Amino acid sequence: MSQSKQIRTAVFPVAGRGTRFLPATKASPKEMLPIVDKPLIQYAAEEALAAGARKLVFITGSSKRAIEDHFDTDRELEEALEAQGKADLLKTLRDIVPSWASCIYIRQPSPLGLGHAVLCARPVVGNEPFFVHLADDLIDAPTACLRQMADVYAECGGSVLGVETVPRTETDKYGIVATEEREGRVSRVKQIVEKPRPQNAPSTLAVVGRYLLSPSIFDKLEHTGRGAGGEIQLTDAIADLLSDEPVYAYEFEGKRYDCGSKLGYLQATVEYGLKHEQLGEKFGAYLTGLVGKFAKPAERN
Ligand code: UTP
Repeated sequence: MSQSKQIRTAVFPVAGRGTRFLPATKASPKEMLPIVDKPLIQYAAEEALAAGARKLVFITGSSKRAIEDHFDTDRELEEALEAQGKADLLKTLRDIVPSWASCIYIRQPSPLGLGHAVLCARPVVGNEPFFVHLADDLIDAPTACLRQMADVYAECGGSVLGVETVPRTETDKYGIVATEEREGRVSRVKQIVEKPRPQNAPSTLAVVGRYLLSPSIFDKLEHTGRGAGGEIQLTDAIADLLSDEPVYAYEFEGKRYDCGSKLGYLQATVEYGLKHEQLGEKFGAYLTGLVGKFAKPAERN
């Protein structure tokens, strides 16, 4: 990939209120919820680093200090682990974020919406394309989803949105795109609408929490008013961008878990637990036993 096509910055909006997970998210951000033993935000950082990002920009709000602490060095804890000879745990801590990556924190003064959160990153992103990653959409993929999107960008340019097909009954939870004819996994976006009712949705192709955006989005966001839910929506700014620049929808390879919802979070926990190197086997045996216990008598034979 040529140097000019390298995406160096990833923006993580983590300033939402996380109301669907209250009371767990009252004093601690939902992005710190763990899937097995790693918080969602760490999976997010790892994905962005695997896609070539070197600058990690967190848009934070109130009760988000835990995220800064997570990516910071904790000398006291490291010394204690060293003294106890717990080399493995020490390594785990030191590997949270590599020294060549920089973490930048910007405070969103008030949760005015995802579009507003992204606009807060403008001073540190500058005039280059960048990733936006929503940590509560966890994607388990053979190649990091953002990496896949960077490859599409290297080929096509423009902006790239990570999309997947959702049930029509759920279109009102997502930004929905209408596209031109698909070539492989990529299609050009003709229209994008935030949270349309199922009967009004132009398709069932939903944008999930992965974006690779041209810096022109910032000028659009400056002029984006409040949209669905009274929030400044990223979707509305992308809709504005469509007449100026190509925007592509990319059906990524991998499985997405909506960890902003309780069910999605539990599903991710179970599946990542089953895949876990040390736990997987025992956890699988436990689940099998549990299923046996709950199976109806006729199914037990
Ligand atoms: P969500 O729509 O999931 O909202 O935001 P939320 O507040 O986090 O969660 P619920 O719906 O109340 O449970 C999508 C993403 O945008 C970020 C959130 O942190 C999440 O990653 N966001 C949203 C901001 O950073 N700022 C905002 O003003 C709104």
